[in-house]
Amino acid sequence: MGMRMIGTGSCLPKTVVTNDDLAKIMDTSDEWISSRTGIKERHLVKEETTAGMSAEAALRAMENAGVTAEEIDLIIVGTVSADHATPACACEVQAAIGAANAVAFDINAACSGFMFALNVAHAYLQMGAYKTALIIGAETLSKLMDWGDRSTCVLFGDGAGAAIVRADEREGMLAYDQGSDGARGGVLACGNRSNNNPLVETSKELEYVHMDGQEVYKFAVTTVPASLHKTIEAAGLNVEDIDYFALHQANIRIIQSVAKRLKVSEDKFPISLDHCGNISAASVPILLDEMNRKGLLKPGMKVALSGFGGGLTWASAVIEWG
Ligand code: COA
Repeated sequence: MGMRMIGTGSCLPKTVVTNDDLAKIMDTSDEWISSRTGIKERHLVKEETTAGMSAEAALRAMENAGVTAEEIDLIIVGTVSADHATPACACEVQAAIGAANAVAFDINAACSGFMFALNVAHAYLQMGAYKTALIIGAETLSKLMDWGDRSTCVLFGDGAGAAIVRADEREGMLAYDQGSDGARGGVLACGNRSNNNPLVETSKELEYVHMDGQEVYKFAVTTVPASLHKTIEAAGLNVEDIDYFALHQANIRIIQSVAKRLKVSEDKFPISLDHCGNISAASVPILLDEMNRKGLLKPGMKVALSGFGGGLTWASAVIEWG
């Protein structure tokens, strides 16, 4: 049994924060941020939540796919910023959209979260366990940022993207690749609640995202082209056969470097980071939804997807659209 992606949706918080807005509250500038990253603005939550944005993105994807809540039998959310340790964001989405027949759980693979969710859903559909899956990447990264660390907080944003994938005789997942390198996890990490049990001295300090930007950059520009090459070859295709490359939206320089290493025109790399920033697991599905709603995706097109980030983790896939 194969799998087709049949609908997409996304949801961004209402509040837009430009680089100039950030320059009013910290020592930075539009010139520094946009020249190094391509980011112009990002959406940040006020009252919105990870689960709320996920549910909204899900409803839009369901409408786009023509699928009802009752038909969904699997919900997977890729996130590192769920609203609660438990219940999982996926369970909150299940309740919000009324998908009573679904099994629901979260995956933590940072910026590769949506891609890992896609690959897990594919495995379940392929083995015949489920028929219709809702996969989501969603983050409220702004709550994990150290807003005193200008080298990281300017890069990230909040939002959610969703896709419906369905079991189908025609296999639309042509190939995938995924990997992890826990030994290098420290270059992009975020702490959690500190231990407050009675056996230890409690530190009330919450930890926030910290990143060695240059190491992450080097990791991305070597791992992503290698993973894409491997996946495209496994799909029995050449790089020229790929109509679009929908990459995790971390940084325009990473995307330009990947395009150069693959010897592909940058025109084949659609961008959302200029108005979204880096939204970790939500980047790829939001970009896919923008491409879908702009009418860029035509039946039969080959789209290469790739996510990479904390863990370290990475994952690529080549899908056939429609
Ligand atoms: N505004 C103004 N200046 C800033 C700044 C900001 N927001 N953040 C850092 N700086 C300063 C630094 O303090 C440093 O100043 P100094 O030279 O006086 O010490 C200077 O800018 C250069 O900093 P540096 O860290 O060397 O910049 P860089 O060229 O490596 O670019 C990144 C930084 C983060 C843009 C770049 O490393 C990068 O894109 N890395 C990949 C990160 C990423 O995509 N992560 C997510 C992957 S999922």
